[in-house]
Amino acid sequence: MRVLVAGATGVVGRPLVEALRARDHQVSALVREASRDRAPAADTIVIADALDRQALLSTVAEARPEVVVHQMTALRLLRDDPAEAFELTRRLRTEGTANLIAAARAAGARRLVAQSIAFAAAPVGGPVLDEDAPLYVDAPDPGWAATVRAVAELERLVLSSPDLAGMVLRYGMLYGADTGYARTGGTGQAVLAGRLPLPEGGAGITSFLHVEDAVGAAVAAVESDATGVFHIADDEPAPAAQWLPYYASALGGPPPRTIPAALAPRLLGWYTAHQLTAARGAANHRARTALGWEPVRSSWRAELGEE
Ligand SMILES: NC(=O)c1ccc[n+]([C@@H]2O[C@H](COP(=O)([O-])OP(=O)(O)OC[C@H]3O[C@@H](n4cnc5c(N)ncnc54)[C@H](OP(=O)(O)O)[C@@H]3O)[C@@H](O)[C@H]2O)c1
Repeated sequence: MRVLVAGATGVVGRPLVEALRARDHQVSALVREASRDRAPAADTIVIADALDRQALLSTVAEARPEVVVHQMTALRLLRDDPAEAFELTRRLRTEGTANLIAAARAAGARRLVAQSIAFAAAPVGGPVLDEDAPLYVDAPDPGWAATVRAVAELERLVLSSPDLAGMVLRYGMLYGADTGYARTGGTGQAVLAGRLPLPEGGAGITSFLHVEDAVGAAVAAVESDATGVFHIADDEPAPAAQWLPYYASALGGPPPRTIPAALAPRLLGWYTAHQLTAARGAANHRARTALGWEPVRSSWRAELGEE
């Protein structure tokens, strides 16, 4: 199949291009001009910024993809400029997705697969929720509420576009090479420096996903006819009280100290406190049954903190 990967230089996008080519798909990698020297090996490199609608329309038309994959975020900027990372990612999820859909439709594509996140559910019910659980669009933190609304808009756009079969892959918390949970990543460095304490109880649930399993799910999604929203996460959603001490030990860092839960938002920021105290996990049953995907790493215990 002819497949266009938007976000082809990314943590998921780069190995995805390689995996699709290994399965004999003809892959066009969409890359920004400034990132041209980091383009992956692909059948075609096409250059455009997804926030430039006209450029994207003509570039995607050149590639004539049957399937378009959206793996774009600006989260790589998180460590240097979190506000810019979230604002650009919000725009990529809204304007960028709308532009990519317009370009995919104009180019005659029949299918769109887009990256979303499995940790945007409202903390109601659970502790592990399926895809029908409401998203936390009214989170008390304005920044997280804006992020979740952008996620909801991305999903709405992908699933409501006429002529395009849409699939949303809600990835669990990515770990593995080049992710935030790698030794050199933002979370890895915070844990190694003893800067990620455990709020008492540590009851927030995280569903992890190895980056290679994210790639495997994206390949399955490209080749599938299924549509809709899918949690792509491992089989062991875990409370922070379990995974954080394990992760610190695997990294060779100090055990996390315990802090009173009430102080967590002030000491860690709203989002991290939420993740560690109240977040719900993501059930992967639908992906197993309707997509025929299952994680190779069924538990984060095997490799979290190993890279
Ligand atoms: N589920 C999760 O846990 C999750 C989800 C997403 C991200 N993350 C974390 O965030 C980090 C980044 O992962 P990621 O794969 O989402 O992001 P990434 O590795 O930064 O890849 C994002 C891709 O989007 C592209 N892009 C950005 N802005 C663009 C634009 N305006 N037009 C076209 N392409 C654009 C980037 O291209 P350039 O090379 O040109 O910038 C890059 O190819 C990782 O550390 C990961 O752990 C986690």
